Amino acid sequence: MTEAELRILLCDLAASLFTRGFSVGTAGNISARLADGYLMTPTNSSLGRLDPERLSKLDADFVHIGGDRPSKEVFMHRAFYLARAEAGAVVHLHSTHATAIACLAAPGDKTPIPPLTPYFVMRIGRTLPVVSYVRPGDPSMEALIAEAAREANAVLLANHGPVVSARSLADAVNAAEELEEAARLALLLHGRNARTLTPAEVDDLLTVFH
Ligand code: 13P
Repeated sequence: MTEAELRILLCDLAASLFTRGFSVGTAGNISARLADGYLMTPTNSSLGRLDPERLSKLDADFVHIGGDRPSKEVFMHRAFYLARAEAGAVVHLHSTHATAIACLAAPGDKTPIPPLTPYFVMRIGRTLPVVSYVRPGDPSMEALIAEAAREANAVLLANHGPVVSARSLADAVNAAEELEEAARLALLLHGRNARTLTPAEVDDLLTVFH
């Protein structure tokens, strides 16, 4: 995919997330890896109204080299790219149900959402570490996320929201949507006697789909 195509895809997928209520106001940010750096949503921009020409461009060292000023969470995205060589995109949302779980779960918990459905396991994996709360934009978040991202495709930032990585931009958006739905299911079923996938069923999914 060319850079021009990736710019358009990023704006289209962001608008789709916004239209369906996965992001409100100026919450959330998205980045995608280029051959020579990264594209990122500008700070204080609505995911519903992005301009492909004004996306922030960062070089391979995450230095801002073009477009509007990048998200204040550059380091959050950098933590994933540096910890996970295969990551081609990172999506951060404040989607309601995942954020509700991020408020309920204890920092350090690695399975705040049970494996209720196959697609949650296939898209997010075995663990979803909960990273301790720090203020949005606080660079101290980078080391906390980097440590958690070494063993997980996605994390929940306590009292803040989910951050998801994947090989491609489309995969990262799909995973962020699947995480939000899994969180909604977990809250709907909380306190009820729902069956979860067994460890053997989880292993089978990860073997077949990874
Ligand atoms: P930015 O507007 O700087 O990307 O921040 C939005 C956000 O979601 C903070 O967590």
